[in-house]
Amino acid sequence: MNKKRESWGSTFGFLMAAIGSAVGLGNIWGFPYKMGRAGGFTFLIIYLILGVLVGFTIMLSELAIGRKTGMGVVGAYHKVSRHFGWIGWLAVLSPLLILSFYTVLGGYCMEYMFLNLSNLGFSISGVTGSELFNTLRHNQFGSLVFTLLYLLLGYGIIKGGIKGGIERFNKVGMPALAVMLLIVIGRSVTLPGAVDGLKYMFVPGWSAANGYIEEAPGFISVLATAGGQMFFSLSLAMGIMVTYGSYLDKKENLVRNSLVVVAADTTVALMAGLAVIPAAIATYGVEAQLSGPSLLFVTLQDVFNAMGTIGPLFGAIFYLLVLVAAVSSSISLTEVLVTFMMDNASLKGRIPDRRKISMGVSAVVLVLAVVVALDGLGANGLWIPLREETSYVVDGVTKYRTFAGSWLDFMDCLSEGIMMPLGALIMSFMVSWELKPKLVLDEVGEYARSPWLRRFYTFSIRFIVPVVMALVLAGQISDFFNLGWF
Ligand code: PHE
Repeated sequence: MNKKRESWGSTFGFLMAAIGSAVGLGNIWGFPYKMGRAGGFTFLIIYLILGVLVGFTIMLSELAIGRKTGMGVVGAYHKVSRHFGWIGWLAVLSPLLILSFYTVLGGYCMEYMFLNLSNLGFSISGVTGSELFNTLRHNQFGSLVFTLLYLLLGYGIIKGGIKGGIERFNKVGMPALAVMLLIVIGRSVTLPGAVDGLKYMFVPGWSAANGYIEEAPGFISVLATAGGQMFFSLSLAMGIMVTYGSYLDKKENLVRNSLVVVAADTTVALMAGLAVIPAAIATYGVEAQLSGPSLLFVTLQDVFNAMGTIGPLFGAIFYLLVLVAAVSSSISLTEVLVTFMMDNASLKGRIPDRRKISMGVSAVVLVLAVVVALDGLGANGLWIPLREETSYVVDGVTKYRTFAGSWLDFMDCLSEGIMMPLGALIMSFMVSWELKPKLVLDEVGEYARSPWLRRFYTFSIRFIVPVVMALVLAGQISDFFNLGWF
């Protein structure tokens, strides 16, 4: 008979791993900027409400289904559902697509970390952040090398297993990440002019009043943005929580664990905001690029350059912390695929070889990541036909509709834009109407005894989750295809 399936070593270890998955690039370059543009505190409150109503509900469902079936996402959904088992396939394909670009971005973080390290004690002068980033993106060989190094790092962790690899890495990595964040926050908020950054993040309407955006977005648009961000940031609908849940002990309190992950992820997103936005705004004001790869690899490198001889030290600490955040997310994505393959082997009566399977999965990711790396996030224009651009005129103003400016956009559009919200939407139908919420609540067991919680969960999964996920799906499609629906 097969070896007994692994499990987490401790509740703390599991929590660190789940938080590690949730805390990623999205917290650093997505949340702070979206919060600033979409109404500061108002956005935060909407985000928190959605986090509890929708994020918590989906997370609890995924963990419970994983633990009940004791299988990875494809096996788990097939085991519980006759009609919707196929969404398990969406949830293994999405991680693969996300990994294709996450790996390349992680590689750049490594490159930036080494670059800052090699300048310790000097000030980096002469090269601006944007020159540097351009050079690195055009250097296809360099991008390939760092993509490969990043992948090897992930492989080194994954092959150690759930407890000996993933849990071990996160138990050290997450607390270290918090300490590094505090150090960078200390520097960022004490820079002269940092107060504007705080206002940008927290004061409703400040970013619109001060020229950072043209006009404040409407309520529905804020709701769609907050929902999309919450959903990506909590690593939902990717099979991750089902997979991590399948290694959980029956005695674990899933309600508390889900709430802890939601709270910790939001706290880190706010902390990341304090670390990056005040520094960026103090240094560049309204010119600062506050989101995505340009925040990370252009603006912030400029901020460190401007700090003088101490700059490379903060730079090295910062890129190390981003690297830890990225690695802990990408190993969770990889584990979805590894667990899937391992379950498959067990079902066929073989003893799964984690090392070999991890190697095979990493090789497949490498093939996709090579495309994104060679494309240089669009800098090298690999396969131009993806870059379909049409112009149209509204009220005498020419607007452009672009479909995917790069391979990264394309992969992101398929996964985060379409497959993930669609998967979550269908999952909520599956739990509500086919399996019934009771199945999840029964698995949660004694921690779901409170009638209040049972009513809340049932209502939320039946009505709130589908409405919000439909809105998120529409918002993502509108964003990715530049349709301007909201
Ligand atoms: N949650 C991670 C972030 O905030 C990204 C991620 C999404 C990781 C989906 C895994 C799955 O960046």
